[in-house]
Amino acid sequence: MHETSHIVQVTSVRDETATVHTLEFDDSTMAAALPGQFAMVWVPGIGEIPMSVMVADGGRAAFTVRRHGEATTGLYNLGPGEMMGVRGPYGNSFDIRAGRLLLVGGGTGLVPLMRLISRAPPDADITLVMGARTRPEVFFADTARALLRPRPHCIVVCTDDGSYGRPGLATDAAADELSGGAFDAVYACGPEIMMYKVMRLAQDAGVFAQASVERIMKCGTGICGSCCMGRELVCGDGTVFEAGRLLANPDFGVRYRTKSGEVAYY
Ligand SMILES: Cc1cc2nc3c(=O)[nH]c(=O)nc-3n(C[C@H](O)[C@H](O)[C@H](O)COP(=O)(O)OP(=O)(O)OC[C@H]3O[C@@H](n4cnc5c(N)ncnc54)[C@H](O)[C@@H]3O)c2cc1C
Ligand code: FES
Repeated sequence: MHETSHIVQVTSVRDETATVHTLEFDDSTMAAALPGQFAMVWVPGIGEIPMSVMVADGGRAAFTVRRHGEATTGLYNLGPGEMMGVRGPYGNSFDIRAGRLLLVGGGTGLVPLMRLISRAPPDADITLVMGARTRPEVFFADTARALLRPRPHCIVVCTDDGSYGRPGLATDAAADELSGGAFDAVYACGPEIMMYKVMRLAQDAGVFAQASVERIMKCGTGICGSCCMGRELVCGDGTVFEAGRLLANPDFGVRYRTKSGEVAYY
């Protein structure tokens, strides 16, 4: 994939929840990003942050951003016609298998899974488990339905507080799915503790599994070392790793480095 650094214009903004926006833009480079790849996004006047590349129609691409600190709030607040910088896409991508696939995601971790669905073989039978804390935080249910409609599929929406869909954690639903059927592959993206549990469940079931991991990223290109996870650099060696490699990593699901490089624990 050819990596570039360029300026793009936001063409439309969609409300997903009270704190999540999807910003679409015309960009053939990002539109061709593989599932799991990310861009470094420059928010003018604020700074640069990593963002997964979301699917969009036509030659467009998108970012789905949760308002959080300064940079994500700046990105969230961009409107149609405003500009942002993008470089990339960077990182590897999911190894998408045929057959029965189990996808488990939470929050903006669903972004690479939407792109994965859009690139899966037409006859892949996909079960998507989507987790959120409460009903107002559920998003992408309609997007997932539209992407999955042409193929055999099942969508399980879970809320931690039971206010919508299946009550309980996405990992409980994933455990039930894995115990109830033979899957050919499992893919996860979301909170690291969730991914840790899903990778363990898949490994115990003897199913091929991968997760897309997040760490603090500054360069995105393997130079600064801020995204280290054990001996791996998440921006260059990942962001997608197989379950065995993740579960053998002493940092996965345990600790990470903050923006200033201090070790913090989940
Ligand atoms: C590969 C990758 C893909 C991502 N995709 C998305 C996405 O699709 N949508 C989305 O909303 N968010 C995504 N993020 C997270 C997003 O980059 C961070 O929330 C953002 O950088 C926080 O910046 P801030 O200034 O808003 O918040 P800050 O106040 O600076 O930080 C808030 C918290 O965000 C995390 N964070 C801060 N800086 C970074 C950084 N440079 N890299 C990673 N995490 C950071 C830290 O946990 C920090 O405590 C992704 C992160 C990575 C690594
Ligand atoms: S973000 Fe700099 S090495 Fe990964």
